[in-house]
Amino acid sequence: TEERTFVMAKPDAVQRGLIGEIVSRLEDRGLKLVGGKFMQIDDELAREHYAEHVDKPFFDGLTSFITSGPVFAMVWEGEDAIRQVRQMMGATDPAEAAPGTIRGDYALDLGRNVIHGSDHEDPGSNEREIDLFFDPDELIDYERID
Ligand code: CMP
Repeated sequence: TEERTFVMAKPDAVQRGLIGEIVSRLEDRGLKLVGGKFMQIDDELAREHYAEHVDKPFFDGLTSFITSGPVFAMVWEGEDAIRQVRQMMGATDPAEAAPGTIRGDYALDLGRNVIHGSDHEDPGSNEREIDLFFDPDELIDYERID
């Protein structure tokens, strides 16, 4: 099914000049960009976005990393987009991420893992994250001709 997923180039990706590479890989795969925003995440948004991890020992490190510099937040649309993007991202832990995946090729460690994508194993997380980062009028409906 056609669906939308929330994707974010994390502060390490912005610092290392990987925004273009990430966008390019998703475009090449046939996914359609429907929203994009270069922004600084504040503490409140970080805590809300990562609310499911609030009790984890790495929560403070996670929120301080994600607020440490600008991110490029995006919404991508396509057939099975949530799972497709997760596959292209690779495993959360770069040590487990296969070569050829975005993390497998670029991620440095568990925290600085370059990219976030909505979790296909957490139904509704895509809508929740899209709503958190974007107003409806910031998402553009259009045809992308193959
Ligand atoms: P992300 O997919 O953005 O969602 C939660 C993030 O928590 C994850 O990427 C990792 O970057 C981070 N994370 C998960 N486990 C750890 C950990 N043990 N230490 C630090 N960060 C972690």
